Amino acid sequence: MSKKEKIIIGSDHGGFELKEVIVRHLEGWFYIDNVGCDSDKSCDYPVYGQKVAGKVANGEGQGILICGTGIGMSITANRNSKVRAALCLNEYMARMSRMHNNANILVLGARVIGTGLALDIVDVWLKTKFDGGRHQKRLELIDKAEHSKY
Ligand code: RB5
Repeated sequence: MSKKEKIIIGSDHGGFELKEVIVRHLEGWFYIDNVGCDSDKSCDYPVYGQKVAGKVANGEGQGILICGTGIGMSITANRNSKVRAALCLNEYMARMSRMHNNANILVLGARVIGTGLALDIVDVWLKTKFDGGRHQKRLELIDKAEHSKY
């Protein structure tokens, strides 16, 4: 893992505790931009999902988003056309989301998976690179579809 890379991380209250664990896990290895939330007090996941998505879309770094299920954060982040946010429940999904989909945001559901698994998913996701080739063409098809009338 490179020390120079930046991770932009955000959560709602449902993901707050896991976010803090992940921040501590990655500190020292990456620059961490923690956009909040700052407590387990109830808040709105789109606020933090949009913040991380915007920074990732601007090329500031890779993103990690956490909410209770991971679903709200996925829906939110993927509204940004430069984002490829992947909700991963296991290491296989994490690996494939990078190799095949070149995901630039990892999404986790803190109420769905345990902390140990979540940290393993983060590690696999961060160290896996995009395969390119036929997968690049497919990502271009996604971008093209965005500009066409369905
Ligand atoms: C918050 O209760 C919960 O709805 C949120 O964390 C997330 O799971 C939404 O998709």
